[in-house]
Amino acid sequence: VRTALIVPAAGSGVRLGAGRQKALVEIDGRALVRLALEPFVAVAHIVEAIVVAPRGAMAEIQNALKGMTWPGCELRVVAGGETRQDSVRSGLGTIESEVSLVCVHDAARPLVTQATIMRVLAAAAEHGAATAASRPSDSLRVVREDGTTQPVDRDKAWLVETPQAFGYDLFKRAHQHATAVRFAGTDDASLVEACGGATIAVVESDALNLKITRPEDLEVVSVLLRTRSTRTL
Ligand code: CTP
Ligand code: MG
Repeated sequence: VRTALIVPAAGSGVRLGAGRQKALVEIDGRALVRLALEPFVAVAHIVEAIVVAPRGAMAEIQNALKGMTWPGCELRVVAGGETRQDSVRSGLGTIESEVSLVCVHDAARPLVTQATIMRVLAAAAEHGAATAASRPSDSLRVVREDGTTQPVDRDKAWLVETPQAFGYDLFKRAHQHATAVRFAGTDDASLVEACGGATIAVVESDALNLKITRPEDLEVVSVLLRTRSTRTL
């Protein structure tokens, strides 16, 4: 199934506080945006990959991707927007190829595996919409504004991650609808759902698919990446 990949990498990384944009932060000499993109290179279905960069760091992102070879795929860097949703919409607007699916994966998740990618794409091809997710290990509790609290049934709760993937027409419609009704979602699956497009298939990630948000996440991910690379040596 011909697929376009959008990698939102235009955030500033305020919570990481690394003194530069998060996607440019390096682990063992490779920028996060590159680490998050590399697992996709072996996925044959991807014919176009769009990295959405911070407006003021287009050249730096280009530079971080220099030397990456991706046969059969056109790799491009475009400028992002104020919010993640704006950035994804910008990327979506630049898709040039005829594709049936669009996959979205955050530059902040460099641990994604090829197995997870393949299963999310397969689920999206079958159901129209799919997301990677994992099960919480802690107990969950909702805290309301009036101070009352309530437990959440953990067996039904999932932590939503990327990659997510959607039918191309459905995804375009979802972003148009969100813009029209001013719906702001924290992920793309909620936009698709809000336009009544599809039910979202939930695919359990096959390994820790951590998102780098705070400095301690960077330490954990560095260790995990090193362990993985020595394992495959
Ligand atoms: N993102 C984006 N455009 C934005 C904001 C975020 O493309 N205007 C991307 C980020 O680059 C990241 C992903 O969306 O890959 C998830 O966002 P988040 O983890 O919140 O990253 P930041 O917004 O950079 O971090 P912070 O919220 O701490 O500033
Ligand atoms: Mg953010």
